[in-house]
Amino acid sequence: TLFKNQDGDLSVLDDRTVAVIGYGNQGRAQALNMRDSGVENIIIGNRGDSSKEQAKKDGFEAYSMDQAANKADILFFLVPDEVQPQVYKEKIEPYLKEGDVLNFASGYNITYNLITPPENIDVIMIAPRMIGTMVRELYEVGDGAPSFLAINQNYSGKAKDIGLALGKAIGSTRSGIIEIDSFALETKSDLLMEQGLIPIILNAMIAKYELEIAEGMPPAGALLELYLSRELGYIFEKMAEQGIIGQMPLHSQTSQYGQISRIDELQEGEAEEVSYNDIKKFMGRQLRNIGNGKFAREWSNEQQMGYPVFHRLFEKYNNSEMIKEEQKTIKELGLSNDLT
Ligand code: NAI
Repeated sequence: TLFKNQDGDLSVLDDRTVAVIGYGNQGRAQALNMRDSGVENIIIGNRGDSSKEQAKKDGFEAYSMDQAANKADILFFLVPDEVQPQVYKEKIEPYLKEGDVLNFASGYNITYNLITPPENIDVIMIAPRMIGTMVRELYEVGDGAPSFLAINQNYSGKAKDIGLALGKAIGSTRSGIIEIDSFALETKSDLLMEQGLIPIILNAMIAKYELEIAEGMPPAGALLELYLSRELGYIFEKMAEQGIIGQMPLHSQTSQYGQISRIDELQEGEAEEVSYNDIKKFMGRQLRNIGNGKFAREWSNEQQMGYPVFHRLFEKYNNSEMIKEEQKTIKELGLSNDLT
């Protein structure tokens, strides 16, 4: 179900204290948007760091996380997913009272039972499909970040109304709130993007780079063509506005023919090196491991071990020729200057 424009009624938030626990990327954006939407009783809960100072500078009452949890009826839980389980145990759970609302921006910890809330509260998710800075920037220009809404526990019987009101308050009804059946669906969609789609796209990009370098193309040229020129980013924007086929007329006919004929070659299994089914099989295996918890166990284990693989792989790719050339090119062409 899609909720938009007039959907959502902020009056269900009247007389309720909303605590944003974690004033980071999402926390700051969502708190500022809610305040601008007219939600009156917003407080911030944060550990004593620069985020807490920022909350005060922005004019919010900022408390420790447990104090805020204690005062609040509706809690936005917006600290990073990896630290949520421990923060929840120590600073949130002891202060939850009957009828409270616990709102997540990610399904991860509920999906994998790393957090198990008491039965006498509502557990909901308004998960923006955007990074925090964009959640704020879009709101400021009169637009909003689309969100997923899911209800995990509906103790009050009003969880959906509250979720819609919160989604409206952060600006999401301006573009759309899509209701999904479970936290797990959000988790799968999110992780499959990260673990299935992006690895395939980036490997394809690395392959293109290496093939061109071998032909004598200077690294800067290969990289500009790949993504440093932002043409690719622009094409993806046009896909969102006009559709994948809809934006095709922006390209030359040679380009259009080349694209669509080779898309079809893969779809129809006519490429001898790799098939669409191979790509789908890779994605399918990632999805299975996301669904059965294998990835979540691998990641929990990695955290407990002190992130050895994580650090080793960042080192490996940071030291790869392509990334070294990329950093050099970004510097030489002054590309980072016009980043916002
Ligand atoms: P973030 O990394 O910006 O969070 C920083 C905040 O968490 C700060 O307030 C900091 O004080 C606090 N914090 C960090 N480590 C802590 C610790 N060990 N103990 C206590 N507090 C700690 O987090 P972000 O990215 O805003 O994520 C928050 C939630 O939003 C997560 O559930 C995430 O999955 C979700 N989300 C994030 C998106 C993104 O693009 N960043 C997009 C959509 C959802």
